Parts: sequence; C-alpha cells; structure tokens
Amino acid sequence: MMERDLTKHYDYDALVREEKEHYAEIEITDDLREGGAHASDCWTYYWQHVQRTLDTSPFADFAGALNARFGALGRPLRILSLGSGYCGHELKLARALTCDYRITCTDINPALFGPAQEIVDREQFAVTFAVEDINFITIEKGQYDLIFAHAAIHHVINLERLFEQLLLGLSPNGIFHLVDVVGQNRKLLWDANERMANALLRAIPKEITRGLRLNAPVEDEGMEGIRQEDTMPVLRATFEPIFEHRHGAFMRFICTNARLAKRLDPRDATARRYLDFLIDCDDSLVARGILEPLEVWGVYRPRKDGIAALDALIASDVLGSHKRGATERNLVVAVWHELDRRARRALRGMRRRVLGR
Ligand SMILES: C[S@@+](CC[C@H](N)C(=O)[O-])C[C@H]1O[C@@H](n2cnc3c(N)ncnc32)[C@H](O)[C@@H]1O
Repeated sequence: MMERDLTKHYDYDALVREEKEHYAEIEITDDLREGGAHASDCWTYYWQHVQRTLDTSPFADFAGALNARFGALGRPLRILSLGSGYCGHELKLARALTCDYRITCTDINPALFGPAQEIVDREQFAVTFAVEDINFITIEKGQYDLIFAHAAIHHVINLERLFEQLLLGLSPNGIFHLVDVVGQNRKLLWDANERMANALLRAIPKEITRGLRLNAPVEDEGMEGIRQEDTMPVLRATFEPIFEHRHGAFMRFICTNARLAKRLDPRDATARRYLDFLIDCDDSLVARGILEPLEVWGVYRPRKDGIAALDALIASDVLGSHKRGATERNLVVAVWHELDRRARRALRGMRRRVLGR
C-alpha cells in the first residue's frame, strides 16, 4: 500500500498532548476499566442485554473460544492489544485463559499502565506493556494469533495504515477482535439518532425523565472519534466477520448521561420499564435499518484480497471524512488562538458547566 500519513493535516503534537491529558484525568473502576458515567447501573444493564446476543455466538466465552482455537499451537498464544489504556480487559482475559499465552498491551500514554503493571507483577501474568502510537505502529509480520482493539480505533487517524498492519501482523489462523463505536466523526451519536432518542424521551412521562434530553457535544480535543465514520468501510475492505453484532443507536448516550442514568435506574421497577422500552425501540430501529448503529462488537478474519481492496478503497476516495475533520479541527484551533485569555477562561467554564467536566 502507498505510504499515506494523514496526521500531517493536523497539529498532531497538540492532539497527542490533549489525548494524554484527557486520559490522565478520567475515573477508573477497581477492575481497571473506564469508570464514572461508564460504570453506571444503567450502562451495565444495557450491556447485560447485549451480552444475551453475544452469548448466542461462538465467542460467548471468549477465553474458552481462544483456548479451543489456539490451545494446541505448541507455543504460547500471542495477543496484541491496541490502545489498551488501563488494561482491565486484557487482565480479565489473562485471568480466564487456560492455555499458555503472551499478551502485549500498547498505548500512547505509558502513565496509564501503572496499576495494571502492579497486578501483573503481583499475580505473575504473562502480560507486557509497550508504548506505541497506533497511527504509526509497525506490527511484526505473522506474529499475532489475536489482535484486540477495545474502544481504541475511533481515536485513529491513519486507519488505512493501521488496518494494513493488522492484516500483515496476524498469524495464519489469526483473528481480529474489535469492540468500538463507529458513529459520527467527533460527536459519535449520529444527528438522526439523537433526534429519535429525544422524540422517545418526549414520549416518556415527565415524572421519569424530568424533561431531560440528549445534547451530545462535538468533541474538538484529542482524537476522540476523529475518523470513526471511515472505520466500517476500511474494516469491510480488509476483514470478514466470523461473528458481528452491531447495536446501540443511542443507548450509550442515554445510559452514560449522569442525570438520565439516575432517572432510568434499573433497580427501580417503574424506571426499568421505561429503560427497557428505550432498549426495545433502539433494537428495533437498528434491526429494521431505520437508524445506523453506533456500536460494533465483532471477531474477524482477514480477507485474502484485503490489501488490494484497501488500495481500491483509497483510490475511490470514499474515505473523505478526514478532510472535513481536519478542516473543522484547524478552524476551531484558529478561532481559539484568536480569543483573548479572558474569553478562553469563560468558554472553559461554560464547557465545564454544560458537560460537567
Ligand atoms: C477510550 S480509551 C480505551 C482504553 C481501553 N482500551 C479500554 O477500553 O478501557 C482509548 C485509549 O486509546 C489510547 N490512544 C489514543 N490514541 C492513541 C494512539 N495514537 N496510539 C496508541 N494509543 C492511543 C488512549 O491513550 C486511551 O488509552
């Protein structure tokens, strides 16, 4: 594939700095996953619902499926995780594997590895940590039986380069496991999905919702959702699903909204009826192709013609969202630099009040 570096359209150093600052500050759970609003009972309840579909797949017991597929290799099962953050998912997998394994966790931000490193030292897991920028990573050819990316790909700018590396880096029977959001660039929640969610919230009694509505912000810091609209075309060109579940048109934004999650607390029988109603509507809207799902959970094998298909995709210029993204980001930065210090302080304060951070 022709070398193409799309980070050069951005002030990439500033994006990386903002990305590191953001993840240095977020709350994490005791088992080293993203905490705060992402640990709400409402969001856990939604994922229990998703799990019922995952339970029908050959990957219901993910570690069990790996043990079965790779247990007789005669060498350790080799796993590479991309953008692993606090590494809670990787440690959970390490605990569940019964075959010999090696897991390499990577992240651009080494400060995040600290707590996981302590657990690895204490419990003697075969897990190592490496600082890598997945926009530029070179994966050793044919090395990995599993490459795993949980909530990381939606931060990537050099998607085409990374997917080429995934194709090259997998072993002959190797698989790619993706859990991510693939919605609207920077905002995640598609506008149409937000409108539908708000129409449904309007239909629920005010005593439950207190009139709350979704108003998802457009992220302009770091690399959150920077090119996610291009993820599915690149994935489709390079990999084919062994199992895939696409779901959640808007439920993430209902369940991780601190105030709505309280109003729709699944422990309250009345509130739970409305939460179930919203989940049913979301499922139906996705199943009937009325709304584009935001979430993807899948296990994939490489396409034999993946690299040629990737080249064709690039040549077709379908992957244009980065151009719009770069222009928008550069405009925001230019306006920001025009503001005086007082105006910037006021805007930061406003942002904190509106977004709660
Ligand atoms: C939403 S977090 C997900 C963390 C973890 N995988 C999880 O699911 O808990 C995104 C992670 O991607 C990392 N990241 C962002 N851009 C990256 C890059 N270019 N290279 C490597 N890691 C990156 C961030 O530092 C952060 O840890």
